[in-house]
Amino acid sequence: MFPRASIGLEINDHAIKYVEVNARKRALVLTSYGTEVLGPSIVTNGLPTNPGALTEALTKLFAMHPDARGDIAKRHSIAMALPETNLFVRTVTLPAMDEEEVANAVAYQVEQYIPLTQDQVYLDSQIIDRHASGEMHVLLAAAPRQMIDDYTTILKKAHLAPSYFELEPAAIMRALVKPETVSATKGVILTDVGAKKTSLAAVREGSLDFTAGIDIGGESIVTKVAQAKKLDTKRAEGLVRRVGLRKKKDPEVFELIKTEVDMIVAEIKKAVEYVGRQNSQAEHTITEVLLSGGVANLTDLPAYIELATDIPTSIGDPFLKATPLLSGRFTPLSKIDALSYVTSIGLALRPFQET
Ligand SMILES: Nc1ncnc2c1ncn2[C@@H]1O[C@H](COP(=O)(O)OP(=O)(O)OP(=O)(O)O)[C@@H](O)[C@H]1O
Ligand SMILES: [Mg+2]
Repeated sequence: MFPRASIGLEINDHAIKYVEVNARKRALVLTSYGTEVLGPSIVTNGLPTNPGALTEALTKLFAMHPDARGDIAKRHSIAMALPETNLFVRTVTLPAMDEEEVANAVAYQVEQYIPLTQDQVYLDSQIIDRHASGEMHVLLAAAPRQMIDDYTTILKKAHLAPSYFELEPAAIMRALVKPETVSATKGVILTDVGAKKTSLAAVREGSLDFTAGIDIGGESIVTKVAQAKKLDTKRAEGLVRRVGLRKKKDPEVFELIKTEVDMIVAEIKKAVEYVGRQNSQAEHTITEVLLSGGVANLTDLPAYIELATDIPTSIGDPFLKATPLLSGRFTPLSKIDALSYVTSIGLALRPFQET
């Protein structure tokens, strides 16, 4: 069924965020959004460690929503993102077979690839490509059952029964990539730099072909500057925003930020190499790096990454597929702020996607 309204929900260690998208006559419209900051130990490394407090925070996040008194889940399709950290995502090579057989083959073999048994995980698989040689690449994602079941219980308690769970990079891909712009020879590396982590994904021929994550983000950049310059977090954050990747502004601060950003650059290069190894048209495969996440706003980040990787780099457009239209209690979401909601936007767009 094609729902009229949909909610994308993202739960991090430090905050929960949501975006609501409504299908209007001709357009998908972003009708509301919100963030609720979480206290310590409510979510730890992506796992719900204080279910009661998380239920409370979710209820608070939607308290202003017009459907809050009824059951939001009745009127909305609800999707939640799963951070890469707690999932096992692998690209595996299998002999040629159809889609149904893939699911079975993957379930049968999963214990070869991950440290959990078949009955401890939920599995998802997607064929990436088929080779003339008869082999094919399949993206395999396994999520611990315990985590999914815990989140389902918590969301239900907050009247937000989830319709789907999705890999965070898959949601980012839906928000930022037009399927017709990617092909075997025109791939994209998505790089989302958040507060605590950077998530990377390669998109080729319209599907994910690699995902990775590292613990580098806004917080690690600020900590680096705070420690070296003996500043408190607030001042260090101000300095990071003022200087960004402009050496001329402050060579010392530039160098500190650069050390962190270079680790992101190294991951992008690894992803490019990985895609090259999988594909015979190697060097022309990745033609673009698209940035998202709050840290995409760091001054001169796109130019720096472009120079370091030699791949055209730009900031993704979170409103590529959903027009913002906010009214009433909700202030308009600027393009800059929306970079923090790219995952939620992608999730909320899921029920409206063509395929
Ligand atoms: N102009 C800017 N320059 C540098 N950093 C910025 C700027 N604007 C926002 N940030 C940083 O972006 C980060 C927030 O990004 P985002 O909202 O994408 O994170 P998140 O999704 O909540 O976290 P994560 O994905 O790591 O779990 C914060 O660390 C913030 O300081
Ligand atoms: Mg994020």
